[in-house]
Amino acid sequence: MRQAQKHRWSALTMGTCYYPEQWEEGLWQSDLVRMKQAGVTVIRVAEFAWSKFEAEEGVFTFDFFDRFLALCVQEGMQVIFSTPTATPPAWLTEKYPETLNATREGTLYRHGGRRHYNYNSPVYRRFCARVTEQLALHYGQHPAIIGWQIDNELNCEVNEFYSEADDIAFRAWVRDRHHTLDALNQAWGTAFWNQTYTDWEQVHVPRPNAINAVNPHLHLDYLRFVSDSTIRFCAMQAEILRRHIRPGCFITTNGMFGNVDNHRMTDEALDVYSYDSYPNFAFALNRTVDPDALNDRAWSKHLTSVRAICPHFMIMEQQSGGNGWSNRMEAPAPRPGQLTLWAMQSIAHGADYLSFFRWRTSIMGTEIYWHGILDYDNRDNRRLREVKRVGDMIRRLQPVCGAAHRASFGVLRDYDNEWDAQIDVWHGRVQEQSIWAIFEAAQHTHTPYDEVWLGRDTEADELAKYPVLFYPHAVIMTEVRARLLEAYVRQGGTLVLGCRTAYKDETGKCVMQPQPGLLRTLTGTDVTEFTFASPAEEAPYALWDGERIDTPVFLDILNPGEDTKVLARHGTSYFMGEAALTEHAFGAGRVLHWGAALSVAAVRRLLAYLGAAEPFREVIDAPETVELVLREKEGRQYLFVLNYKPQEAVLRLRRAVKSLLHSGVCEGEIALQAYGVEVFEVI
Ligand code: GAL
Repeated sequence: MRQAQKHRWSALTMGTCYYPEQWEEGLWQSDLVRMKQAGVTVIRVAEFAWSKFEAEEGVFTFDFFDRFLALCVQEGMQVIFSTPTATPPAWLTEKYPETLNATREGTLYRHGGRRHYNYNSPVYRRFCARVTEQLALHYGQHPAIIGWQIDNELNCEVNEFYSEADDIAFRAWVRDRHHTLDALNQAWGTAFWNQTYTDWEQVHVPRPNAINAVNPHLHLDYLRFVSDSTIRFCAMQAEILRRHIRPGCFITTNGMFGNVDNHRMTDEALDVYSYDSYPNFAFALNRTVDPDALNDRAWSKHLTSVRAICPHFMIMEQQSGGNGWSNRMEAPAPRPGQLTLWAMQSIAHGADYLSFFRWRTSIMGTEIYWHGILDYDNRDNRRLREVKRVGDMIRRLQPVCGAAHRASFGVLRDYDNEWDAQIDVWHGRVQEQSIWAIFEAAQHTHTPYDEVWLGRDTEADELAKYPVLFYPHAVIMTEVRARLLEAYVRQGGTLVLGCRTAYKDETGKCVMQPQPGLLRTLTGTDVTEFTFASPAEEAPYALWDGERIDTPVFLDILNPGEDTKVLARHGTSYFMGEAALTEHAFGAGRVLHWGAALSVAAVRRLLAYLGAAEPFREVIDAPETVELVLREKEGRQYLFVLNYKPQEAVLRLRRAVKSLLHSGVCEGEIALQAYGVEVFEVI
């Protein structure tokens, strides 16, 4: 059972990110005053400022931030202070190169960028512990500081570690997990290609080899090790902070990045989780953007994942300007209304704190094109006016603070399978297809969902609140998970499984059982054959009551047991007419087995069949281009309506609702302007 979130905001709050070390001191006060005028009441500082505290090894000075924080007290600005460990000083990495991370080939990442350190160097850990302790001792009781951020974006940019220190730590980790070389050889399947280990010293992090492919079972353990290393690094700082900071101050870090179990990190080290939301990445990374695709709306998928880590999360960095770096990425400035739309997208999905990145665009360094609220010239501008408007909206939205997101169904995920899908392309293909299909279908049918991440101790009760759960490709299956799913279905839940289910064990090795392995009793099916969709044949589909539904990427041919109903049959290839979708009653519930990756059409049809689709249809009729999200608290329901398009959207209200933003009762047809947002209380 996961712990309850330890810190929650008591009011929706607006902040920004500020870098006192990047500006003339003469600007500080007017910046703080202008921020307050815009409605900003909290700033995040210091995450890259190590040299301001320890310009020389072991010599700590605090006068710079003392002066800045005194001004914050004077101007009534609250502060989230950061540990500066994402960017070690030059003196440190130059003198102690063992603190650096390395490429798989062994080349060290040198000073000049960021996040070039490794989590496992005892030397780096010692330096980080010391600077954290010094800051906590000096600032732990400071009246301006309300919370602490650990490091910055753990595992961003680089989430693989190949330094000498990681190699040593990995060996110890492996030994601790497997205990004996026999067990290790068994777990990693080393009989294949003569990989047998006869001494622990032969065990290494993945290294270059002739075929450029890592033993997949070793690789899976390596990703678990990276995750554990990240959590240990974060927890080390959290423990130090906790010893010295004022009670009531929260500890957070900003994510969300790969190769770390963010759920465990939050439970073990943090009071609240933060996310950095940049919806324009859709443009920044692909210069051609399909106007019909979800683009910036796709950020709702990430926000859904963040909500699963921490239901009332913080947005530490919310995009406020066009984004780009001097060496890569380019994206347009947010159009009038778009900055507000993205801020409301975050709040709709559960953010109770929202902080714009950044107050003013940097005039130097790699991020001169990562625009903040203000431009280089420091004049009031359109974006600042929009931020002020967001501040006004937040004042009207206060009743929403602490409200819970309401989902119609859940999607099960777990880190074993996430990481297996990362290293196993057969798994990755189906997972990617299905996760996006679920998101798209849910968006277009206005059917909100939650992600539910299975941990070591997840209990059936946590699942029972979702009448329908999708677990699209649970390739790795354990006895414990199989029993959990059985308990969920037995008490009345509906479980939807896709192809490639349960054919691997926890080590990532395939099991010598008919598929779907440990879940056969639940599904009432036997997979007699399976294949990738052949590019030489017609695109595969299934027939469900005469309707053609795409069955993309991979096909399982299902043999239904005696008491298993066939709902759809494959419509193509040598398996035409065989079962493609089955339904099996189990206890008070049922299991649907879909013998393919999910297409958008398949998810739409399944949601309709299971009665989960379109929960707001009696309140509102909205075009597919609009997102609907509901937060509820103390019996009150707040419906967010978000228009991502540069054109007006027409909404038909099927009953009277109250607009929180415009304080009036609305009924009938109303127009939502381009990039417009409405928040209705359902009355
Ligand atoms: C985040 C990071 C910020 C800034 C921003 C824009 O990933 O935390 O420091 O780099 O992106 O690139």
